[in-house]
Amino acid sequence: MALNSTPAWRALVAHTAPPLPQLRDLFAADPARFSRFSVGFDGWLLDYSKQRVNSETMSLLGALWQSADVHGWINRMQAGAAINHTEARAVGHTWLRAPLPRPEVSAVLQQMKTFCEAIHSGQWHGATGERITDIVNIGIGGSDLGPRMVTQALGAHAVDSLSVHYVANLDSADLATTLKKLRPANTLFIVCSKTFTTQETMQNATSARQWLVAALGDLAVAKHFVAVSTNLEAVAAFGIDPANAFAFWDWVGGRYSLWSAVGLSTALAIGFANFEQVLAGAAAMDEHFFTAPVGQNLPALLGLLQVWNTSFLGAPTQAILPYSQSLELLPRHLQQLEMESNGKRVDREGNELPAPACPVIWGEPGTNGQHAFYQLIHQGGRLIPCDFIAVKTPDYALAGHHSKLLANCFAQSEALMRGKTLAEAQAELGPEGTALAPYKVFPGNQPSTTLLMPAITPYSVGQLVALYEHKVFVAGCLWDINAFDQWGVEYGKQLAARLLPLLEGQPAGHELDSSTAGLITASLSKQ
Ligand code: F6P
Repeated sequence: MALNSTPAWRALVAHTAPPLPQLRDLFAADPARFSRFSVGFDGWLLDYSKQRVNSETMSLLGALWQSADVHGWINRMQAGAAINHTEARAVGHTWLRAPLPRPEVSAVLQQMKTFCEAIHSGQWHGATGERITDIVNIGIGGSDLGPRMVTQALGAHAVDSLSVHYVANLDSADLATTLKKLRPANTLFIVCSKTFTTQETMQNATSARQWLVAALGDLAVAKHFVAVSTNLEAVAAFGIDPANAFAFWDWVGGRYSLWSAVGLSTALAIGFANFEQVLAGAAAMDEHFFTAPVGQNLPALLGLLQVWNTSFLGAPTQAILPYSQSLELLPRHLQQLEMESNGKRVDREGNELPAPACPVIWGEPGTNGQHAFYQLIHQGGRLIPCDFIAVKTPDYALAGHHSKLLANCFAQSEALMRGKTLAEAQAELGPEGTALAPYKVFPGNQPSTTLLMPAITPYSVGQLVALYEHKVFVAGCLWDINAFDQWGVEYGKQLAARLLPLLEGQPAGHELDSSTAGLITASLSKQ
């Protein structure tokens, strides 16, 4: 049955008219609103009382959860069914962090542990006998964003003797500016690619190898290159010793892969024991997601609220606003996680969805964003649901910072919820200033959720990432989407392969539109 014809969906559509009272009125009418619409778990707090919901909304969303059979999908995922049906693959990222992992997972974790210890102790050294001081992870998309984000988030837990760098972009500026800071004798490259065919990664790896070989010769490659991939044949063909390859499996999606050997750069950056804590935190969130009732279940609530805001209230975007510099890269990671998973136009059966599903995900850490785009969230006239992420205990204890940071975070969600009426603006300005009053009106009623984390630790960062992974899973189930394929990235790659010869001076083998032809000609022109 089409998504929008199920009784659960139709009941929610009916519930949108008339709209609920303004959020400020809902708060005024119900002093218990915060306790009614907030949930705790393992030191975390999820406050969704500033969402445009009442008890009836939540029970109708609960019915949608039942109707979408989310528990059935969880069971099928855990049993290894090929729920990524368009690629005929199981979806097993949670198996990577299970307290008792499968033998093949344990074997790679052990290999990672041994390697981390060898690098940290200096037992593994470069071709000239010098210690490895710099690691460069070469990868893109899921082979970059997740490990890069977690490594940055856990900077306060970093191993002192090692610097970890990330290179992703095909633009040579990325690799060149990184290499400028490094010495070949102390540098180890991790070529990280699920397929080991991705153009960006293979080009960067080839250039990195040339840089190393020019300084230390061909034989040095064995001591300065390792690989992470499901394609071990291609790793060997590239010239990396199979003994230095870390395997993973086709049942791990790229954007869900930081728990596998794709996390090797993170394990090196923070130490293997801390990496195990990242896995343990994720496993705790898995357990919570699989067992907690929907009304107490953090990922379920985030997923249901996303679908409510997007499909029923019509919000085309969602902002991710971490009030934590350590989580600076979280919005970028979530862009891939959410939009590559649920940015789809057809349901599991291939039928066109009645309306776009996944919102555009964007964001920046607070307070920086307040001085950039918050103006539009407050007064731009668009519905923009926000996820605020705040941390109880700061990772760096400089006096005077944290209370101000939290005051700003909570003030933003308060202002977005409450707004300011014309009468309030006029009263504030007094008789002299009334001409300015219209400019000082805030419509308010802007929905937000605040997640309060206990601290930024390896364990809690594991929980956070797993929380959003499961939220995306829930939303994908509610929209009846296969959240685990990504056909939308293929077409551009195909056309780029056709255009490349033209940019390298060969004649066109096919018809080009005038814009594409004009751009190629202009880029090759000497003037
Ligand atoms: O952009 C498409 C994509 O396939 C992502 O899903 C993936 O994370 C990324 O490219 C990198 O792929 P690989 O790890 O195979 O190099």
